[in-house]
Amino acid sequence: MGSQDRFGYEWDKYDFMLPMYEKQFLMWIGPDLGPEDFKDKAVLDAGCGMGRNSYWPCKYGAKEVLAFDFDQRSVEAAQKTLKDFSAAKVIYKSIYDIDFVNRFDIAFSIGVIHHLEDPKRAIQNLFRAVRPGGKMILWVYGYENNEWVVRYINPIRKITSRLPVWLTHFLAYFFSIPLWLYIHLIPQKSEYLKLIRQFKFKHLHSIIFDQLIPRIANYWKKEEVEDLVNSLPNNKKYKIHHIRNYSWTVVVDKV
Ligand SMILES: C[S@@+](CC[C@H](N)C(=O)[O-])C[C@H]1O[C@@H](n2cnc3c(N)ncnc32)[C@H](O)[C@@H]1O
Repeated sequence: MGSQDRFGYEWDKYDFMLPMYEKQFLMWIGPDLGPEDFKDKAVLDAGCGMGRNSYWPCKYGAKEVLAFDFDQRSVEAAQKTLKDFSAAKVIYKSIYDIDFVNRFDIAFSIGVIHHLEDPKRAIQNLFRAVRPGGKMILWVYGYENNEWVVRYINPIRKITSRLPVWLTHFLAYFFSIPLWLYIHLIPQKSEYLKLIRQFKFKHLHSIIFDQLIPRIANYWKKEEVEDLVNSLPNNKKYKIHHIRNYSWTVVVDKV
């Protein structure tokens, strides 16, 4: 399971759109793609959460954006986020159950695959949904430069991912308050810490909370990401980008 019930609590609570989500979305899809690539395209967003990533393809003129999530509260939050776009539709579905074949120009999954028990099966399903000539985009956590998260946060997560979710939300303050003080009082070298210094406290807290809730959170080395992508059928070409030195974006072209 991909901790969807726990994320549902998060998206129910943090269902607001922020202008900086656009910058994040453009960063997550990698340096080779931009707003113009979505114009008139059919787009699939797998594990959409509150719909913040589907929002931008709608703005960029996609002809269809189908977003899905395996949690009803997330689906409702995404429906609210995307309510003004006639091109958008949000459905309740698991990535393991999607049965689209050669249908979408772009299928993306941002921040989802590393939380799944069977990531290979998930991306095979997603890749099947892409039409030949289309693209699948995945953004996942990287291991490189996140060794400290694996060493110190993973053991904490083992406990907090099993506590009642409201309690984990409260406990997250014990991390978000010191972190907020640390990044604001001390000059930072880390790209990631520099990035999150720009966030409001509520957003920073949501990030910490997001880290503490999932039962599975894989931080993959580059070769593990390659191994994942190589499990796909041969009709592909792919590029891997190291995003801000702490995560991976894979863009897979279906040929
Ligand atoms: C960290 S959140 C990322 C949400 C969104 N992509 C974003 O970047 O805002 C992971 C999402 O994956 C969803 N999820 C977990 N398991 C899933 C599955 N089997 N099929 C579809 N979505 C799933 C969760 O419900 C959650 O909304």
